[in-house]
Amino acid sequence: MTDSQTHWDNRYQKNPELNPFSDFLPATEKYLPSSGSCVDIAGGNGRNALWYAEKGYSTSLIDISPIALNQATEASHNLGVEIECIHWDLENNSLPPNRQWDIALITLFLDRNLLQKVPNFLNDSGILLLAHPTKQNLERHEHPSSNFLLEPAEIFKLGESFELAHSMEVIHVDEAWRDSGRHEAWLVCQK
Ligand SMILES: C[S@@+](CC[C@H](N)C(=O)[O-])C[C@H]1O[C@@H](n2cnc3c(N)ncnc32)[C@H](O)[C@@H]1O
Repeated sequence: MTDSQTHWDNRYQKNPELNPFSDFLPATEKYLPSSGSCVDIAGGNGRNALWYAEKGYSTSLIDISPIALNQATEASHNLGVEIECIHWDLENNSLPPNRQWDIALITLFLDRNLLQKVPNFLNDSGILLLAHPTKQNLERHEHPSSNFLLEPAEIFKLGESFELAHSMEVIHVDEAWRDSGRHEAWLVCQK
């Protein structure tokens, strides 16, 4: 078991509550295909994956914490939907091989190396969705700490990197204070 798994297992064990889905999801719903598959990368106990599953997308949830994945499975049963839970360490392994999805979501998980690999796991016309707090968030919140935050305006450079390296189209990019109370950068790109 890795240190990271122990850390996150403990956190989900202590706080099993399912937080509300991110306000990024309804705000970007207009960019989604009407049906298809979706992966929530480092999706925790499923607050966002369950939103997609309830919309009818065939939804996978990847996380290092089996405790979080068990909580997500239980929540999916309560809601009467299905999600595929994949126990996976993203840090050392990229994403599971030989898999592709129509939608890839990453919220509150920043791994810049991994980000650049995500387009390889998208089907043609696939949508990549990224929402993450910026350093401006520190003006109102102590956590996440500086190391885990995006630089100011970094999201625009990330968008450019997807255009240049992966021939993707940026269809939405901005950063602002959100309804969640966090200062978040939002990026939507299409393959
Ligand atoms: C801040 S939480 C965000 C969870 C979810 N994306 C959300 O927005 O609620 C970070 C998540 O990353 C997961 N995580 C951390 N390191 C990981 C790794 N190496 N591989 C896979 N998941 C990891 C944790 O278990 C946790 O669920």
